[in-house]
Amino acid sequence: TYNATVIVTIDGVAASGKSSVASGVARALHVPYVSSGLLYRAAARAALNAGLPLTDEAALTAHLRAHPLRLDARADGNRAYQGDTDLTPHLHTDEVDDAVSAVAALPGVRAWIDDHLRSLPAPFVAEGRDMGTNVFPHATAKFYLTASPRVRAQRRVNERDADIDAIETALRERDRRDARQSQPAPDAHLIDTGPLTLQGVIDLILQRVQAAHA
Ligand code: DC
Repeated sequence: TYNATVIVTIDGVAASGKSSVASGVARALHVPYVSSGLLYRAAARAALNAGLPLTDEAALTAHLRAHPLRLDARADGNRAYQGDTDLTPHLHTDEVDDAVSAVAALPGVRAWIDDHLRSLPAPFVAEGRDMGTNVFPHATAKFYLTASPRVRAQRRVNERDADIDAIETALRERDRRDARQSQPAPDAHLIDTGPLTLQGVIDLILQRVQAAHA
């Protein structure tokens, strides 16, 4: 029932539950989900592996052209490759968390990743920071997830078992660094996930996607 051009975008702040929500929505719609953040993480990992300074835009874009990243987008999870190397197991580490904002601030890196994302075959659910604004401005339905820093820190503690105050401080710092990239599109549905369960957020999005098709 979803035609080949359907693109649903789910953007939002760090640790708002975007990837769990996006993969749940994608599974319900029987389409792949696209984790753009995983590509940013892969770009950071590639820079670290190659020993490139994280702010050297010319070196990093040349590196990506010579050794392209590739996102394998599936409904049940995404993997990121550089050539034949699967970078996925090394992308959710503190080292990459600390490096990724610097790399994601480089216009050349963003342009490379934007091109790769636009080359992926629709239909899909795309998740990130600027999917509904920059990358897929003509998406079928757009969502922007928020939650307070405390709620998000609590979710991270449940995942990684760490100190909640330290995580909340780190999240506020990431919000500050990501703010330029991470704005809701004017036509996005804003969802505060704080009072909702994961399934509650997924159901709300599915209702609105269906309404957009009615
Ligand atoms: O969603 P995530 O936490 O895995 O994203 C990792 C980093 O990539 C995050 O710090 C912001 C950046 N990012 C971005 O700048 N633009 C996107 N579309 C997705 C992620």
